Amino acid sequence: MHPFTFLHSTRRVIFAPGALDRLADLAKEHGVQRPAVVLDGYFATQPLRDRLVALLGPATRVHPVPQQEPDLRIVESCRAFLAAEPFDMLVAVGGGSAMDAAKVARMLVSNPGEASAIAGPVGVRMRPHASLLVCVPTTAGTGSEVSESSVIAALDGSYKLIFRSAEMTASIALLDPTLTTSAPAGVTAASGYDAVTHAVEAFTAKTANPMTDPIALAAMESLARHLPIAHAEPGNVEARGACLVASMQAAIAFNSANLGIAHAISGALGALHHVGHGLANALALPWTMAFNQPALGAKGETIARIFGGRSAAEGLSKLRHRVGLDIALDRVLPAGADYDAIAAGSMKSGQVRVNPRTPTVADMRAILEAMRRPTGGTQPELGL
Ligand SMILES: [Fe+2]
Repeated sequence: MHPFTFLHSTRRVIFAPGALDRLADLAKEHGVQRPAVVLDGYFATQPLRDRLVALLGPATRVHPVPQQEPDLRIVESCRAFLAAEPFDMLVAVGGGSAMDAAKVARMLVSNPGEASAIAGPVGVRMRPHASLLVCVPTTAGTGSEVSESSVIAALDGSYKLIFRSAEMTASIALLDPTLTTSAPAGVTAASGYDAVTHAVEAFTAKTANPMTDPIALAAMESLARHLPIAHAEPGNVEARGACLVASMQAAIAFNSANLGIAHAISGALGALHHVGHGLANALALPWTMAFNQPALGAKGETIARIFGGRSAAEGLSKLRHRVGLDIALDRVLPAGADYDAIAAGSMKSGQVRVNPRTPTVADMRAILEAMRRPTGGTQPELGL
């Protein structure tokens, strides 16, 4: 058995339809006097805002963050809101973007100075903040409610900063599937496929280990079954709940096992061309798994069985097609986009090192070329 490390910092996970109502008891239990809420802009004008204030009390301050993948400007505005008055509880409610922004902004309150001073995937010391951090996801996707990391775009948009610390992690993850039923079909598909990519890449990474494999496996099994149902029937709370738990499981797995080259490619597509994260993963994953096939061994057969294909790549291609994400890369990139620059950018990712098969920049370029054509849900033929 290979040496390994397993990390999980979230102390409590609460899952139940209607679990949001537990916020009032949690605040009481922790003697909270000054609650603050960072809220996904999607909900800023919806009844959820009033419901949060009703649960946490009239002293609650609320800060909406824009519905986009967060950059340093959004994080700094969130820091200014949090720093304006003391707070002893922070509730981050939203998709991965809102949770990622809130997690970093809270750390910037206890670590004054440039955000870049505490950025870095490993070895950065962050001074803790005393507040209780509760994360409440409203999409089943990133798993930011249990992961120790956040990804924030730099101001010039050319690269992304990774922040990572156990101090930044939510103490409590509150999973309430009724909050995810209003997600539009496109958001459900893209965020769900992000979770699929987390589970598959964590399961196949060189750094996968005996703690992460069973969790990634459970996440894949559940997403294969329930993501198409949640996509087709938005109000199906059972399927929504299964996807929400699976996305959290996938994040617990990748928090220690890391990811792979689909995320290397989606990182470059996001930084250089603002392609949405979940969509970019869906464009990449069937092709990157076709590339990885020679290195997958028995795990490849397991993934193929779970997703109903003759290979892992075919199964993932089928699922992508079923949820409406079988899209040509050209459709989401500006005309004349520089594929060589995207390939070079993706090679800078730390995920390349842990991918089961090590790509060259020419391999990455060939994968990007293949991504220009839809698969129709069939076996992706890469020829590498
Ligand atoms: Fe992701």
